[in-house]
Parts: sequence; structure tokens; C-alpha cells
Amino acid sequence: MSDLDAQARDILRGNDKGGYTVPTHGLYPYQWNWDSVFAAWGFAVDDLPRAWAEIETLLAGQWDNGMVPHILFHQVDPSYFPGPDVWQGTGPVPSSGISQPPIAATFVRQIAALDAANGAAKMRALFPALLKWHRWFYQWRSEDGAIVVTHPWETGRDNSPDWDPPFAAIDPVGIDTYQRRDTGHVNQDERPRKYEYDRYLYLVKLGADSGWDERYLRQVTPFRVADPTMSFTLLRANRDLLAMAAELGEPTDEIATWIAAQEAGAQTLWNPDIAAYDTCDLRSGAFGGGVSSAAFLCWYAGIHDDRMLGHLERIMSAETYGIASYDPDHAAYEPKRYWRGPVWAMMNMLIAMGLHEAGHTAHADAIRANTARMITENGFAEYFDPRDGAPAGGRSFTWTAAVWLGWAS
Ligand code: DGY
Repeated sequence: MSDLDAQARDILRGNDKGGYTVPTHGLYPYQWNWDSVFAAWGFAVDDLPRAWAEIETLLAGQWDNGMVPHILFHQVDPSYFPGPDVWQGTGPVPSSGISQPPIAATFVRQIAALDAANGAAKMRALFPALLKWHRWFYQWRSEDGAIVVTHPWETGRDNSPDWDPPFAAIDPVGIDTYQRRDTGHVNQDERPRKYEYDRYLYLVKLGADSGWDERYLRQVTPFRVADPTMSFTLLRANRDLLAMAAELGEPTDEIATWIAAQEAGAQTLWNPDIAAYDTCDLRSGAFGGGVSSAAFLCWYAGIHDDRMLGHLERIMSAETYGIASYDPDHAAYEPKRYWRGPVWAMMNMLIAMGLHEAGHTAHADAIRANTARMITENGFAEYFDPRDGAPAGGRSFTWTAAVWLGWAS
């Protein structure tokens, strides 16, 4: 085992709280939805029971309406804000009131493929909760097959320039005074600005005050944005769910209908002005206007759209490390500030998985080699500066360690 493998395993063990894994201590002291799925993927390399436990704990937080929250607050920890008192989630475990990219069905299938003894039984046990979660997206968040988010935190790409236009239309009146905790853990130049936090909290308050009533929020929220992260991860997850249903002898028609609708819906995210997939603000009708790394999830979604290859090559060659989370040629690019430019290893893995499956193996291999070099030289940071790979955000980060073990190493 290499030193880096050993370090990555130590990070997973060190962040393991017993049945769930925190992304990193201090900055993110709870169970985050897609972070947890990546953690399971990392554990699966040598501890399949622990991998399954991670997914089971996540799905145990599912709400009656099917939503699986983006944060589960298993034990209150004052090092994080906003906590369960602000969110007022209504599920079986104290939680936030929004979801996150639904990558679980995809990785449940990947982990099952590694588990000859128990994989089929685990898939059977997890299938109903996954189906119910995907149905929630179709009930509340599908606009002609494009999947809509009601908070930037749902996409994981918290302060992407994609949210600048919809945020400009929000006046964050009525929020309580608050004290951020994130900037006590991480350099503030690597985090969202106060301008964004005010609007994050405005949207949380709107949701909490409504009791997280999706019907009401669909009418009133100023933030309803069709998003490639959600659309592409869900489309991919539905393909995996369909395969799972077929293997398990479950009905497939409903899932097949979702897939057909989403294949059509994905095309509504194509912004002809930049010739790329983009967010679309449903309140104003405007596209986001720039190329984010989420656009390159098209291949992962099974949309083999080679019109995106030129952007990928341009963005990969613009800086030493890729894939920049936002286009380095765009005026809003900030190479150290979270989702306005830095490289995220787990996005690289999802994008490269899709490229590989689409037959673009040279592109996939180049991304993997570049990611491996970035981690080897700079460690297991939350994200990295594309110019020189300088580590940024949290350290000893679960998903970077997991991606190393399961893919990059
Ligand atoms: C944060 O607190 O920065 C998280 O990204 C919210 O999910």
C-alpha cells in the first residue's frame, strides 16, 4: 500500500463517526448527502459492510414525502451554522430541508458490483427508498424534464457564478442576525461572501417558515433554477435505478418515463449563446451565462454530446490543473473561491466516468492523471487552485480521500 493510500484510509477512519462520515471535522461536522455516498465508495475498497452502513444511515433520514436531506444533524455541534434549529427539518432525523445531487443509486450499483456475497440483497433492501426519493424529484422539481433547485446548496456548487443573476433579484429582508462559523475554520477568501450568505439564509427561512411545503414554495420562492448538476446526476441515477429494477424484477415503466422526459428536458439547458449546457432561471427565463464544470456531467448522464468536448479541452488546457469549476475565460472566475473556479476531485471523477463510458477514454485518462498529480502534490484538500494546485478549503477531506482510493490512485 502506498503512503497516500494509507493517508486516505486514515482520513476516512478519522472522519468516521460510527455509521456516518463527516466531510471534515470542524467545518462540516455532520452527515452530508453526496459526501456520504463518496465516503461509501471509498470504504468499499476494503470494507463493504462499512460502505453499506454509510448509505443505510443516509437513507434512514428520508422524509415521508421521499426527500433525502442534504444534511443530517445526528449530534448537535456548535462549530457549524446554520444548525437544526434554523433549518427545522421535518424528517425522522434532525435535518436540513433541501436535498443534494442524487448520486446514491449509481454508487449503490457500483458497490453492489464489488460485493458478490451481499450486493443483490443490499440493492433489494435500498431500492424502495431510492425509488421514493427519485419520485420526489419528479413530483416537485421536474420542469418538463429539467430538474429544478430551490437553493444553491442543493447543487453543492454553493457560490457558483450561476447563481449571481437569480441572487441579484433577491432582497434578503427579514433574516435574523447571524454569525458565520465557516470563516472561523477556513480563510474567508476561499469561501462565499456575506452577500451570498444573506441570500442563503433568506431562502432557508422561507422554506422553514413554510414547514418545507414544496407546493407553496413552488409558487412563491424567488429561487427556482433548472440546474445541470441535478438534471444530469438524476438522469444517470435513473438509468442505474432502471437497471436495478430490471435485475430485481421490479416494475420499470415509471422510471423509463422519467428517463425519456429527462433526455428531452436536458436539451432545455442548452444555452446557444455560449454553446454549452447551463443553468436556467425559471423566474426570469435567463440562462446563467457561463460554462461550469457541472455542464461536463452530460456524458455521465448518458447524453453523449460531443459539442461539449471543445470547452473541456479549452478549460483543461487553460490552467495547470482541471477541471476548473467555472470557466477561466469568464470575468466571474476566481481560482481560489470555492465554486467560482477551484478544482474539485469528485467532480473530476464523475465527469471522467462519463467520458470513459462514452468512449472518450483519452480525455478520461488525462483527467484522472491530472487529478492524481494534483492530490499527490497537494494532499487531500476539499478543493484546489487550478493555477498551481494549492490546497484550499477544508483539509483531510473525506471525498478527496475516497476519490483517491476508488478512482485516482
Ligand atoms: C456549507 O455550509 O458551506 C455547505 O456547503 C452547505 O451545504
